[in-house]
Amino acid sequence: MPGCLVISGLQWGDEGKGKVTDLLSGDADLAVRFQGGANAGHTVVVAGRRVVLHLIPSGILNPSCRCLVGPAVVVDPETLVQEIASLRTLGVSVSPDRLLLSPRANLVLPWHRRLDQLREAHRTSGRIGTTGRGIGPAYEDLYGRTGVRLVDLKNPDRLAARITEMLPERNALIRHHGGDPLDRDEVLAPCLAAAEFLGPFIRPIEEELTRALDQGRRVLLETAQGTLLDVLHGTWPFVTSSLTLAPAAFPLLGIGIPASFGVLGVVKAYTTRVGEGPFPSEDHGPLGQALRDRGQEYGSTTGRPRRCGLLDLPSLRHAVRANGVTALAVTKMDVLSGLAPTIPVVRAWQLGGQTLDVLAPEAQDAPDLAPVHEEWPLWEGSLEGVRRWEDLPSGAATFLERLAAALAVPLVLVSTGPGRESTCLLADPWR
Ligand code: IMP
Repeated sequence: MPGCLVISGLQWGDEGKGKVTDLLSGDADLAVRFQGGANAGHTVVVAGRRVVLHLIPSGILNPSCRCLVGPAVVVDPETLVQEIASLRTLGVSVSPDRLLLSPRANLVLPWHRRLDQLREAHRTSGRIGTTGRGIGPAYEDLYGRTGVRLVDLKNPDRLAARITEMLPERNALIRHHGGDPLDRDEVLAPCLAAAEFLGPFIRPIEEELTRALDQGRRVLLETAQGTLLDVLHGTWPFVTSSLTLAPAAFPLLGIGIPASFGVLGVVKAYTTRVGEGPFPSEDHGPLGQALRDRGQEYGSTTGRPRRCGLLDLPSLRHAVRANGVTALAVTKMDVLSGLAPTIPVVRAWQLGGQTLDVLAPEAQDAPDLAPVHEEWPLWEGSLEGVRRWEDLPSGAATFLERLAAALAVPLVLVSTGPGRESTCLLADPWR
């Protein structure tokens, strides 16, 4: 039985991983974030109040779960402090006993955010539609070996020296993009303020993680974003700047590959994308609008309307293969209830006289790509609150069976509404 489960989104993010993680962390000893930054947004409801978690693993809401933030996460210290503070006002205990931040994680600094926003604003073509959270520039500094890390917050003199050394070059870039340069204190002061608060949380994570895995304890690894936003295996360059695939978790966390682990692939019952880039099954008509309205498809980090479209089986097969998915969770089934008698699903794509069952990311914007549709029947009646397979309308059960068969992965979880109670758990995802 795997003691380690990686939760991975199989589309362009926003598949509902937050709900699935929140639900499964009830059984987890550790919940771990291993990539991305505050571009992620997991909306959760605590005591009737909505909280958006950007950096802290959703497992924090379950008191017996400890949370780790790995070295390949880019941490915006101001956002993190605010997130801890808002969780505490809701009565959630967030102490250094429960939350560990890897000292090796790179910081997102004000110049990263400014550069991200300026570059996007001034791109005449090829805008990525980033979240503006400074993610790309922060990863450039990580791989350029010029960033500031969480460990530097523990040494104010070193921190000040690094920022002083880096600022002129960053300001030259900001000016190049037509922005106002930053002064040293605008960068340093928030870091120093956060340093005192975050200091006790900054501790190595590898030992605890390896011990938990060796002891067969339940470790949940949370992916942010989705497969098609992976910097290598997504629709580059319209991607985020990190590796988002499940197996990347192990090298990014600095631990060996466990003898056994599961990958739970999360799929929304239709497709959405926020930001620019190819989306061949996008629906610009009333169906896309209906999905956006019913599914409340607006970004939880930026509030932007999400682009909506059809389920794309060939793209999902790419994602299943890239992640090594072992089990499937399907979310937002309730959004399709009563939408229409049937819905088209992309079964295959035709390109250059060939029929493709698997769509590679680089073919996503081929001009002569043509869908091969299949009509899947929908169902009447609300799914909200449905917890057992037997209680699903037969149309919904058939839809799910067809999806699992098309992807050749066993279905273990179905989300039938936003609340925790609206979930059919069909099999133990940890097995
Ligand atoms: P960045 O990660 O802010 O650089 O944005 C790059 C692309 O990834 C843009 O299309 C964003 O909309 C998208 N993106 C980043 N994070 C998320 C997320 O958590 N959910 C969905 N899309 C995201």
